[in-house]
Amino acid sequence: MTQQRDPSQPIGLGIAGLGMAGAVMVHAAAAHSGYVLRAAADPHPKPREAFARDHNARAYADVAELAADPVVDVVYVATPHQFHRAHAILAMEQGKHVILEKPMALTLADCDAIIAAAERHKVHLIVGHTHAFDPAVRAMRGIIARGELGRLGMINSFNYTNYLYRPRRPEELDTSKGGGILFNQVPHQIDTARVLGGGLVRSVRAHTNVLDPARPTEAGCMALLQFADGASASLVYSGYDHFDSDEWHFGIGERGAPKKIDHGAARRGLTGANDEAELRTQNFAYGSGGSQLPPHQPHFGITVVTCAGGDMRASADGVTVYGRDGIREIPLPRHEGMPGRREVLDDMREAIRTGRKPLHDGRWGKATLEVALAIQRSSREGREIALEHQIAVPAAV
Ligand SMILES: NC(=O)c1ccc[n+]([C@@H]2O[C@H](COP(=O)([O-])OP(=O)(O)OC[C@H]3O[C@@H](n4cnc5c(N)ncnc54)[C@H](O)[C@@H]3O)[C@@H](O)[C@H]2O)c1
Repeated sequence: MTQQRDPSQPIGLGIAGLGMAGAVMVHAAAAHSGYVLRAAADPHPKPREAFARDHNARAYADVAELAADPVVDVVYVATPHQFHRAHAILAMEQGKHVILEKPMALTLADCDAIIAAAERHKVHLIVGHTHAFDPAVRAMRGIIARGELGRLGMINSFNYTNYLYRPRRPEELDTSKGGGILFNQVPHQIDTARVLGGGLVRSVRAHTNVLDPARPTEAGCMALLQFADGASASLVYSGYDHFDSDEWHFGIGERGAPKKIDHGAARRGLTGANDEAELRTQNFAYGSGGSQLPPHQPHFGITVVTCAGGDMRASADGVTVYGRDGIREIPLPRHEGMPGRREVLDDMREAIRTGRKPLHDGRWGKATLEVALAIQRSSREGREIALEHQIAVPAAV
């Protein structure tokens, strides 16, 4: 494996894509003492200039220049889905470790190419962030793995958002180019269910919805995942900006900040917008505002886990366990940094320092994509789809 130059020094991080995800990771890395923001790349000058100014760092128009920069140890790839394969491999060819946003890529063949490049260039790969890195999910996984609530039966993940009506680049509304919730949102639920359920999904049956002909990509999904050991997961997602399930999660938003529930506001905000891609940059790209670290834990809708001895759910500040002896709250500490993203950065640092393979490596990311593609296929073909590329959560996790 490629070694960090001096393990006592913070890891040099480069950000490819300074949009919504890139901006969140910049704030997470800035609050993490193990990393230093060294450089970024984005074709759009505004976020690039804001980044260079705020972090006294280099900013390039082209990912190839970022990948070649010798002060960068790890490249976080948060560019649009269709570029994931090319940008990850570009960075690996320069000996950089890679944190690659979900979805890992658009096809299983692209995943294989990325996995092969990581092996060839002896670098670490983490596919994330997904909400499976959330501290509450990790805590629930620990409870399941230690058998504290008995045998796992069901996982229920349920999320209603305004996804479809946030300003979108054209390709985000075209499923064939990686648009819609199956590539963008449902991977959070799949990854979370796989971590909780042990990783090995045996089969998938699903229905998906395209309910707005003006934005013709999937924004509704109902999927049943059957695990190899008999447990199952139900994943429900709707992004039509009607009901907002954060109403049922203590009025807290996805990243852990208090949220004013405003039904239909995203749809109304699009009225009259003739360049949504530009509106997206204005509203969400790096430099467009807010860098507050949230007061509560991150979450992705409602997640409830049923075991033989009780239920548990991700709560505002931890995990609530509904056991035979009553209800107890397991509070989760708020450390330095942004929960969820901090764990991604921690896992990469651990991998670089110790050589330990991260859970969310290339094979894991490919297995999660396999489930997303199976959901699409199951809905199209009206049948259950068997899976072939699943991998288990290691016993240590
Ligand atoms: N993990 C999460 O919670 C989370 C949240 C949001 C997005 N994402 C993921 O992050 C990725 C980016 O999504 P986003 O919502 O930030 O999109 P976005 O449109 O807000 O940002 C994408 C950025 O990439 C830039 N870009 C476009 N082409 C580029 C190129 N060739 N080289 C470098 N930069 C380029 C754009 O100018 C833009 O600033 C996607 O994979 C998405 O699924 C993850």
